[in-house]
Amino acid sequence: MTSGSPIQFPSDFLWGSSTASYQVEGAVREGGRTPSIWDTFSHTPGKTHRGDTGDTACDHYHRYRDDVALMSRMGLQAYRFSVSWSRVQPTGRGPAVQQGLDFYRALSDELLAAGITPVLTLYHWDLPQELEDAGGWPVRDTAQRFADYAALVAEALGDRVELWTTLNEPWCSAFLGYGSGVHAPGRTDPAAALRAAHHLNLAHGLGTQALRAALPARAQVMVSLNPAYVKPRTDTPADRDAARQIDALATRVFSGPMLHGRYDDDLIADTSRITDWSHVRDGDTQLIRQPLDALCVNYYTPSVVSAAEDDGEVERRDGHGASEHSPWPGADRIAFHQAPGEQTAMGWSIDPTGMSELLLRFSREAPGLALYVTENGAAYDDKPDADGRVHDPERIAYLHQHISAVHDARAAGADVRGYFLWSLMDNFEWSYGYSKRFGAVRVDYDTLERIPKSSADWYAQLARTGLLPEVPEG
Ligand code: FCB
Repeated sequence: MTSGSPIQFPSDFLWGSSTASYQVEGAVREGGRTPSIWDTFSHTPGKTHRGDTGDTACDHYHRYRDDVALMSRMGLQAYRFSVSWSRVQPTGRGPAVQQGLDFYRALSDELLAAGITPVLTLYHWDLPQELEDAGGWPVRDTAQRFADYAALVAEALGDRVELWTTLNEPWCSAFLGYGSGVHAPGRTDPAAALRAAHHLNLAHGLGTQALRAALPARAQVMVSLNPAYVKPRTDTPADRDAARQIDALATRVFSGPMLHGRYDDDLIADTSRITDWSHVRDGDTQLIRQPLDALCVNYYTPSVVSAAEDDGEVERRDGHGASEHSPWPGADRIAFHQAPGEQTAMGWSIDPTGMSELLLRFSREAPGLALYVTENGAAYDDKPDADGRVHDPERIAYLHQHISAVHDARAAGADVRGYFLWSLMDNFEWSYGYSKRFGAVRVDYDTLERIPKSSADWYAQLARTGLLPEVPEG
């Protein structure tokens, strides 16, 4: 690749990597942990690729010390992990289980001893099954349960963890979990999906209040969204309107109440056939709008949409698995299209413009708000070569493009403070099981051996110097 002017990030820019509890921990029956909706779902025949489950995953629960050593070798300054709710509060109610909290304490201590900042996500999709049995996210009480859980974790870890995020990608929890059903708990009820979205918002608001009450003043409270970078296929009014609808359902349904204390009128109107929104009580949206220390953006791929010309054209795929049920309540006449250009092994097309555009959007929408990229990365079918090394030039190229886009956004005024690669290591990719590899480190699922790929070395160079390395030739 030809070199332009060098891309240098400031020395206080945080370079990290992300994982999530159910995707890496394993040890699902240890220390008093009870099933989450993902245990139930993955053990339900037909729900995941080849019936894969997170029972063992990467065995991070037992191997976390080695994994932190690996992070040190990669020069990482931060590690974003999530807490398994049913490991620390098995029924989703009542007192915490000490052994569960101890695991996250030990992990945080190991990170701090290695000079790596722990970044804790409270909820990365693994609701305790008992709470789903009581109605799950479509039920208002689940938001209060989340706030109580947030307080328990904050009391136990507030002395050592400074960076907190409430939810990861509530869009997936609500619309894949209760709409298209490709994620746990696998329900396919559009009205329930919209109620789930509101109660996740409420959980964020109540959870943020609970964290503020329990954490020292220096703690930072944030949330990770996966806003859509939506492009109309053509510039016609009908296609532009399709893009507007998806923007409302993908992004503004969360950023509206969280940043501005409101649901937009067009969202309410578009979904009026599905719900009258009477589950939103007076004061809710103001409660959801809590002051945030930063907004975190996860970005992978753009969405190209058009007004469907006939019903047959409506493409139900959404990138996380196919379903005959739509994850877009009320948006029945919208078609999704493959964007031109290269794709990753997920079939996700590559467009780094989305990264800079989304960061700039939020920096304009919420002036002064700090931003982080808490997920970005790519799956490829990389394999070890004869000498046992894993060369993944496509992943390096993807990262280079997207990190350049982060730099562009900073240069244009977005206050982006850090970037987290998804993922530290190959792991359980939800309904795709172990068939999709996102890691900078390869995991051999027979031996659980970790093998850093060439992207791990490339990323280490970046993390150590802040200077974006070139993409190696060939
Ligand atoms: C995101 C999820 C993460 C992982 C990546 C590929 O939507 O937050 O757990 O599955 O996609």
